[in-house]
Amino acid sequence: MHIHETIAGLRAALKTAGPNKRVALVPTMGNLHEGHIALMTQARDHADTVAATIFVNRLQFRPGEDFDKYPRTFRADCEKLAAAGVEHLFAPDEGEMYPQPQGYHVEPPPEQANVLEGEFRPGHFRGVATVVMKLFQIAQPDVALFGKKDFQQLLVIRNMVRDLNLPIEIVGKDTVRAADGLALSSRNGYLSTTERSEAPRLWRTLTKVVGRINAGDTDFPRLEQEAMAELGANGWVPDYIAVRKKIDLQLPAAHESGLVVLAAARLGSTRLIDNLEV
Ligand code: PAJ
Repeated sequence: MHIHETIAGLRAALKTAGPNKRVALVPTMGNLHEGHIALMTQARDHADTVAATIFVNRLQFRPGEDFDKYPRTFRADCEKLAAAGVEHLFAPDEGEMYPQPQGYHVEPPPEQANVLEGEFRPGHFRGVATVVMKLFQIAQPDVALFGKKDFQQLLVIRNMVRDLNLPIEIVGKDTVRAADGLALSSRNGYLSTTERSEAPRLWRTLTKVVGRINAGDTDFPRLEQEAMAELGANGWVPDYIAVRKKIDLQLPAAHESGLVVLAAARLGSTRLIDNLEV
């Protein structure tokens, strides 16, 4: 695997891949787990050359969030990427990505950026959209893969690509989970042993809500309240549990189909997110 720390280096290497070779890009912030690696392996089905990126993007963290303590495990990440057959890794430092403070930003519309994650992490999706746009301009891939684990992020990126006419195919892939249902996440490493055994309740709660909806219950506000109460009774501090339309994350009418249930909740000092399609 070739490791590139500069934009020029990555671009030169991808150019030599050849004009008819499709390039897939898989952006990450590192501390790679099986969820990330599944994206790398699946990228192979969409392209001839697979390029991963590792960059912990300060722009998408708010002051007081975990930017400083975000786990950085570069050596282990490289081994995993090489074993997964990734050809190119772009791992810039902050000076390469932001040689001067970022002046221009990609601003997602409020109905996407200010709800759910955006309500609790103001500015988060502006930071995500801006860095992903930069990574797209840098690598100029034909296709890019993202996990449905970050359902709202995937929607924001899809709509950015559509609205700004980027010639890039966006592919969303299923969430990889531990055997007990917990969605794999770099932030799971923050959990204590006791918290780790409690953590799958988030997924179990989502599963229950989806089960009720499938059984015909359309009182979404009550289902959301009950699910939040169950988490609360078990020591969680939920930010939201929300039944939304998959297509735009807006509120569904009672008998609408194409739904997703999204959740964010804190367990101790760790904030976990997850979602389940109905
Ligand atoms: P990061 O959290 O490292 O995630 C990188 C990619 O892996 C994202 O597309 C995410 O949705 C996917 N992913 C994470 N956990 C997963 C799981 N359990 N199963 C499947 N896919 C999973 O998301 C980001 O980084 C950043 O916001 C980024 C897009 C790189 C921009 O900075």
